[in-house]
Amino acid sequence: MTEQLSVTGLTAGYGGPPIIEDISLSVEPGEIAVVLGPNGAGKSTLLKTIFALTSVSAGTIRLGERELTECRTSALVPLGVSAVPQNRNVFPSMTVDENLDVGTYAAPPADQKATRERVLSLFPDLKGKLRQPAGELSGGQRQMVAMGRALMSEPKLVLLDEPTAGLSPAYLERIFDLLLDIRKTGITILMVEQNARQALQIADHGHILVNGRNHVSGTGEELLGDKDVRRLFLGGAAG
Ligand SMILES: Nc1ncnc2c1ncn2[C@@H]1O[C@H](COP(=O)(O)OP(=O)(O)OP(=O)(O)O)[C@@H](O)[C@H]1O
Ligand SMILES: [Mg+2]
Repeated sequence: MTEQLSVTGLTAGYGGPPIIEDISLSVEPGEIAVVLGPNGAGKSTLLKTIFALTSVSAGTIRLGERELTECRTSALVPLGVSAVPQNRNVFPSMTVDENLDVGTYAAPPADQKATRERVLSLFPDLKGKLRQPAGELSGGQRQMVAMGRALMSEPKLVLLDEPTAGLSPAYLERIFDLLLDIRKTGITILMVEQNARQALQIADHGHILVNGRNHVSGTGEELLGDKDVRRLFLGGAAG
């Protein structure tokens, strides 16, 4: 059902000089991969590039046998790719229910009611809030709405940009638990995170980007155990 995401030699930007250069990585079906790196390293640009929101000058993006590099965003959703952007990722004046519906526009699921039930079963926190405007929810609940919306198109691959940004430690754990629940459904996750240590604990693989280039990659465990990675990217040797 799911397929490997494979990015090869990807160079892209916003029309000026390239922001990411010669990036290669792959994500196995049903795995969680995390992209880490300093502010401005190009992490969001990488996710936006996979979601066809930047200008690619070299390289390829594939999902299974299918080449995605030339696809528009609107064509990617029906092919099984969804994304949750870093900021402003809900429609605040629309209700939770309406926000979820937006996720079905580009790729209506065969049985929308069943999909909605399945998605809501992952996010019990939202069940009592379906008629509330999304803008009235807490940051963590809004993040769940954004993730729920991305799941409404029944994706094979979800791109998540900093799903725990600005959340309390308790909510952060909640979101990471949810990501593990989503992983169990067979969906592949490629996410960017600032909470590097916790993200690597739930990730199958991690990729550190520096100045728009691959710096180091490994399993979550390998990166957590690497002295240089700990010193430079995980804030010291503790843990
Ligand atoms: N829409 C845009 N147009 C032009 N340049 C951009 C645009 N978005 C980002 N950039 C530039 O691309 C570079 C990388 O930005 P990006 O948002 O990918 O970094 P990031 O690794 O996600 O950082 P952060 O951790 O702060 O979210 C930055 O120098 C930024 O100024
Ligand atoms: Mg970013």
